[in-house]
Amino acid sequence: MDRLEGKVALVTGAAGGIGAAVVKGLRGQGMRVAVADRDVTGIAAELHLPGDLREAAYADRLPGAVVAGLGRLDIVVNNAGVITRGKVTETTDADWVLSLGVNVEAPFRICRAAIPLMVETGGGAIVNVASCWGLRPGPNHAVYCMTKAALASLTQCMGMDHAHQGIRINAVCPNEVNTPMLRTGFSRRGFDPDSAVAELGRTVPLGRIAEPEDIADVVLFLASDAARYLCGSLVEVNGGKAVA
Ligand SMILES: NC(=O)c1ccc[n+]([C@@H]2O[C@H](COP(=O)([O-])OP(=O)(O)OC[C@H]3O[C@@H](n4cnc5c(N)ncnc54)[C@H](O)[C@@H]3O)[C@@H](O)[C@H]2O)c1
Repeated sequence: MDRLEGKVALVTGAAGGIGAAVVKGLRGQGMRVAVADRDVTGIAAELHLPGDLREAAYADRLPGAVVAGLGRLDIVVNNAGVITRGKVTETTDADWVLSLGVNVEAPFRICRAAIPLMVETGGGAIVNVASCWGLRPGPNHAVYCMTKAALASLTQCMGMDHAHQGIRINAVCPNEVNTPMLRTGFSRRGFDPDSAVAELGRTVPLGRIAEPEDIADVVLFLASDAARYLCGSLVEVNGGKAVA
């Protein structure tokens, strides 16, 4: 995937499990990477843009800040996300605002600001991190599933609308991934994360849940010219495990 070399990427949620693997992978391909998250201290990257994606002005500003700092913007990975549990009847206003804000509104704002900047330099690629649960919902995560369905739909719409400008917009849709998001969920419910992850792995046809690198490699593929004919695709990365 040497065709990524010399390009500039923005990765949100860069401090998290999948985000860190994406940043490492992109830099490994010779890209310069701007990292965005609430706390980006200690992340090896060319530009650090800490902030809270629930703040509209921060999300709006991110793509321009990358161009100001690194001279161009070729790849955007909208990876930051939050998961709230529960049925609609258990969902608080705060859960609603948080989930919509981080999982839907922030990628919308970032794409809206990034696309014109990418057009100016000849195009690029956007990869959104949605979820299998956005394609076929699982139980007890109503608002999370809805936000990922919204992001998947936005990806399909943008993929069609901006292809003619040389911008390919696709999404990766993981099933379970061994990251802090999944592990803290187990801890909160009183399970030991290591044994819960091992047990969950036995439900996957490939025999284990995904590691962040399994998802990052697909993000890198979608970002690269190897995926040059993919626009608006939702790529499921699930080890053979469909949502039940
Ligand atoms: N882990 C899984 O099983 C799984 C499955 C399917 C999809 N996903 C998706 O993958 C993406 C990455 O998740 P992960 O598993 O690496 O989780 P993670 O919790 O390790 O990382 C998410 C990152 O997003 C950042 N973030 C959250 N809210 C933010 C805000 N308001 N402002 C700035 N940054 C914020 C967090 O600080 C964190 O570093 C998410 O969009 C998630 O929904 C994860």
